[in-house]
Amino acid sequence: MQVATFLAYLAAAALFIVGIRRLRRPETARSGNTLAAVGMVIALIATLFVIEFQSLLEIGAAVLIGSVLGAVSAQRVQMTAMPQVVAAYNGLGGGAAALIALSEFYHAETVGSGESLVAAITVPLTILIGSVSFAGSIIAFTKLQELAFAGSVSFPLQQVVNALLFVGILVLAANAISGGAIIPALSPVASVVVVLVASLLLGILLVIPIGGADMPIVISLLNACTGLAAAASGFVLENYILIIGGTIVGASGTILTRLMSSALGRPLGKIIFAGIAAAGTAGKGDQEEREVNDVNAGAVGEYLSEEAQKVVVVPGYGLAVAQAQGPMRDLLEVLEAEGKEVLFGIHPVAGRMPGHMNVLLTEAGVPYDKLYDIEDINPEFPDTDAVIIVGANDVVNPAANDPEQDTPISGMPILDVEQAERVIFIKRSLSPGFAGVDNPLFYDREKTMMLFSDAKQGLQEVVEAVKNG
Ligand code: TAP
Repeated sequence: MQVATFLAYLAAAALFIVGIRRLRRPETARSGNTLAAVGMVIALIATLFVIEFQSLLEIGAAVLIGSVLGAVSAQRVQMTAMPQVVAAYNGLGGGAAALIALSEFYHAETVGSGESLVAAITVPLTILIGSVSFAGSIIAFTKLQELAFAGSVSFPLQQVVNALLFVGILVLAANAISGGAIIPALSPVASVVVVLVASLLLGILLVIPIGGADMPIVISLLNACTGLAAAASGFVLENYILIIGGTIVGASGTILTRLMSSALGRPLGKIIFAGIAAAGTAGKGDQEEREVNDVNAGAVGEYLSEEAQKVVVVPGYGLAVAQAQGPMRDLLEVLEAEGKEVLFGIHPVAGRMPGHMNVLLTEAGVPYDKLYDIEDINPEFPDTDAVIIVGANDVVNPAANDPEQDTPISGMPILDVEQAERVIFIKRSLSPGFAGVDNPLFYDREKTMMLFSDAKQGLQEVVEAVKNG
């Protein structure tokens, strides 16, 4: 490799690293994204020099199609649909890595030729990891988009089937690497094709039993897998920037996966190998029969004006769907104008993507220093007069702490809102959230006020009520 190309790859790698580092804070995230994109453009141009500008037409067409699709979907996608989009892009990355390895296989010198042991091993490895990542991400997409595979889909001996499939893939991969020495009846080409199909199946089977609070962790894990697949394809192609970029994605995805699984109290082994229990079914029938303290916006405004001094707001997915962040900021302002203390409690998986609520609220003008993480807000609840929960359920559901129940959110740390004097829910009905687990707090008529409303309209009415109260 020429010195100029080496330096260009080095610059691209440095931009990727600085870019990722800047994603840690909302104020620097946009520039971090831009820096990483500049790094990608540099890597692309340097690679054109490496391949001596061959296949320019095909590469240009691929870059054009990819850029247009990426730009249009990024403009159009709703914030609430970001996890699905991340899952889809991630799957495409894994699938691309698997296809690269497959095409290299057909150029044959790698597998079975004994030319390069690294290449011979990394071809089936890339196909395995890339295909698992592709199929798993597509299933994650269909779950999050609520197209299919809702909740936990499992069948008897699922883990045994997965284990057998994995062992079969390893045997077939070894058969391909050894030029058909293990199963002479199966040619290396046929072995690799079966590895691809079996890996796709494994990806599907690994993700269908996962749901509820575990989905964000799984997406992060699949992201790490795609990084590893890209790095492995870098070995196949002997391309350094693919190795570096893939390793960065693999490492950061692995770190994020570990952080999320420990923050949510969901050990990774349990998520992958144990699946989850069916979503809570504390039945609809029950809900209809059980009474709740159904109030109007006037009653909420009156309580906040007259009885509450310290108020904590808990935003959730429904706030984002209703685009209620503006009225949310208005409520903060009217309450503060009346001398109340107002804080926001943000759960790590509130909404549908990490940092979802932080981005929405700060963009609407809620000061960043009012947003408290779970560990900082939980000690505040015992001396809080009112918690206003807007379009959220899973992140405040005490069923997560109930040892008697095995639900998709069991073991997930929650915001301890029941410690507060009063709990006010603003949501449209008694329906549960993403994980499908009914919330016993809805039915605590002493403590809880239920304001059944669209989040935006409900907040606007409460703001008026506080102003007039
Ligand atoms: P959820 O538990 O999903 O609850 C959202 C609530 O919003 C629902 O109960 C719904 O009740 C209400 N809602 C929907 N539209 C509304 C509207 N227009 N106005 C008012 N309310 C509305 O949300 P959460 O508490 O934020 O929990 C997040 C869940 O998503 C967790 O299970 C988490 O694991 C999962 N998840 C999170 C992520 C990340 S990384 N954040 C990624 C994927 C999945 P009604 O229908 O009665 O209104």
